[in-house]
Amino acid sequence: MKTINNFEEAAANELLVNENHSEINTTDNLASSACLIRLSGVHKRYQLGKTTVNALNGVSFSINRGEFTAIAGPSGSGKTTILNLIGCIDDPTSGTVLVKGKNHQFMKDREASIFRNQTLGYIFQNFNLIPVLSVYENIEYPLRIGKIKIDRHTKEKIYSLIEDVGLSSYTKQRPDKLSGGQRQRVAVARALVCDPDIVMADEPTANLDHNTGLEILNLMQKLNRRLGTTFVISTHSEMIIEKSRRVIRVLDGKIESDTGEDYEYQNKTDYDTVDSERATCSA
Ligand SMILES: Nc1ncnc2c1ncn2[C@@H]1O[C@H](COP(=O)(O)OP(=O)(O)OP(=O)(O)O)[C@@H](O)[C@H]1O
Ligand SMILES: [Mg+2]
Repeated sequence: MKTINNFEEAAANELLVNENHSEINTTDNLASSACLIRLSGVHKRYQLGKTTVNALNGVSFSINRGEFTAIAGPSGSGKTTILNLIGCIDDPTSGTVLVKGKNHQFMKDREASIFRNQTLGYIFQNFNLIPVLSVYENIEYPLRIGKIKIDRHTKEKIYSLIEDVGLSSYTKQRPDKLSGGQRQRVAVARALVCDPDIVMADEPTANLDHNTGLEILNLMQKLNRRLGTTFVISTHSEMIIEKSRRVIRVLDGKIESDTGEDYEYQNKTDYDTVDSERATCSA
């Protein structure tokens, strides 16, 4: 599999890949199972010329469906690397990453691309909206790329998401007329439009002031509760860390602490076994 090192580049790439297929099926995400993400003994090494960077050094944790988890740690500690692995964008050097019980390393590129599109939504620090599209069109865009039929039902869903994120008066507005917080609200709605199991957010409030960051956090938590979507957020923000139900702290590529799986979501009917036996990435 082609290694893509940048989270945003990966999502852009994903949009291009998905222009060429039509098998996106949003109803698949309704499958109910608690354990969504499982990292076991994960190491990630990068080779920079003659220098080896040990970005992750034996990381293990599970995240259940419906959890709201912050991945915290200083710059360079491995947060984005963890998100890239969960996002099936990059492969571990050793160890196993299972998402919905599946190891994307066993998938063909096209299968992995469809799996990502059905399973994951992304929110970025820099919002990554398309400047020439309106609020409505930006949110609709992943559906168009996924060749999902835009019918009355999907339109209602988009308008309902726009209402959820508090932008009903801005439907036709282009991003350059919106504030940073409003842009991030559009990005939150866009991340949810394909009904993903997991929304991954890499430093989603880093470009926002405290109060606007808090609004976006509240919005993500409201949607997490209402839709049951699992959120995994990489952050430096103490405000997000304080308010997240679960916090995994990373230091030098290792788990420093983990407040633990949210008790509300521990009734495992478990995806864990699907690819476990085949998951034999050697160290
Ligand atoms: N593509 C790459 N090639 C080489 N080294 C990399 C690459 N990506 C990350 N690293 C290194 O891996 C380590 C972890 O990086 P990562 O981006 O995961 O940190 P982070 O916790 O997200 O940091 P930040 O808070 O600054 O975003 C760092 O030492 C980084 O330099
Ligand atoms: Mg990072």
